Amino acid sequence: MKETFELRSDTFTLPSEGMRKAMYRAEVGDDVYHEDPTVNRLEEIAAHLAGKKHALFVSSGSMGNLIGLFANCGRGNEVICASGAHIIHHEIGSIATIAQVVPIEIDAPRGILTPSLLEGKVKPRGVYDMSATTMVEVENTIGGYPYTVAGLKAIRSFCDEHQLKIHMDGARLFNAALAEHVSAREFTALADDVTFCLSKGLGAPAGSILASDDDEFAFQAKRVRKMLGGGMRQIGFLAAAGIYALENNMERLADDHANAHAIAVALAQKPWAAINLDDVRTNIIMFDAVGLSNDSLCAQLNEAGILCLTDGGKVRLVTNLNLHNDEVPKVIRIIDTLNPKSN
Ligand SMILES: Cc1ncc(COP(=O)(O)O)c(C=O)c1O
Repeated sequence: MKETFELRSDTFTLPSEGMRKAMYRAEVGDDVYHEDPTVNRLEEIAAHLAGKKHALFVSSGSMGNLIGLFANCGRGNEVICASGAHIIHHEIGSIATIAQVVPIEIDAPRGILTPSLLEGKVKPRGVYDMSATTMVEVENTIGGYPYTVAGLKAIRSFCDEHQLKIHMDGARLFNAALAEHVSAREFTALADDVTFCLSKGLGAPAGSILASDDDEFAFQAKRVRKMLGGGMRQIGFLAAAGIYALENNMERLADDHANAHAIAVALAQKPWAAINLDDVRTNIIMFDAVGLSNDSLCAQLNEAGILCLTDGGKVRLVTNLNLHNDEVPKVIRIIDTLNPKSN
């Protein structure tokens, strides 16, 4: 039987036996009443990791983003995002339809915002016919590319000057921290609220965290979670998977980064792939096909056993914990022997 390698996304990761055992053993209670000891423990661990006073366990990264914007941006107000932002393109327009926030997308190389890109984009408050800008959203990593702490500090100064809040979509926050050789806290200290995923690279089957320092925000966030139907009851089973992920799967993210780099280097040698190795900073590889369409190359890679997707107009491969280090040479062998047919 042909071997296949799951590189479409790190969202496809499957819970390990150790994680499943931790889930089975979890002590549970009613989390809507704050009585699930496993959720409470996860929230404590997560708050500590994020260096924030409050952490709320939510069902998904999308829910964390939506609650963050709902509670911090304000209806009829604008959030500025970089081109390609997940909250604009991949969350069914929830920030507009549910939070009633106006998304403003600005062109940003690699999806990284800077003060000069933000300059002139902030709308004032108090003008009778204009939506006001109240928030900047940063995605870290975006397409696998991390912010630098210095870059984010510059955005923080800009936002302070213009009285804007920062929401950080840190779905892959720990990948960003690893790539930049900093602790996650150095990033999160620069955001008013931050969401990070326990699923994806960390390998939990579901769940994200929404963290902040602000008591009123934390109170509202919990209310909005309930309003959205996200108040779950004996959910410690999932929180246990999250704790297991944070305690066991953090360090191995470095393997995903090394594996992505090795695969990117192999792709860079192929005449049918155009790839900038400087863009491959974490576990996400984005590249273009040469001599055929990205969709056609993607289909041929899938056929050969490398499961991938096209995303944002690029072919995308995402290394993850279900791709073991000893399988990487097999993936590279497929790349080396592939002779894509042009279309
Ligand atoms: C950058 C980013 N933000 C948010 C999300 C949403 O996470 P979820 O799928 O848990 O809703 C994703 C999911 O892939 C993501 O890549």
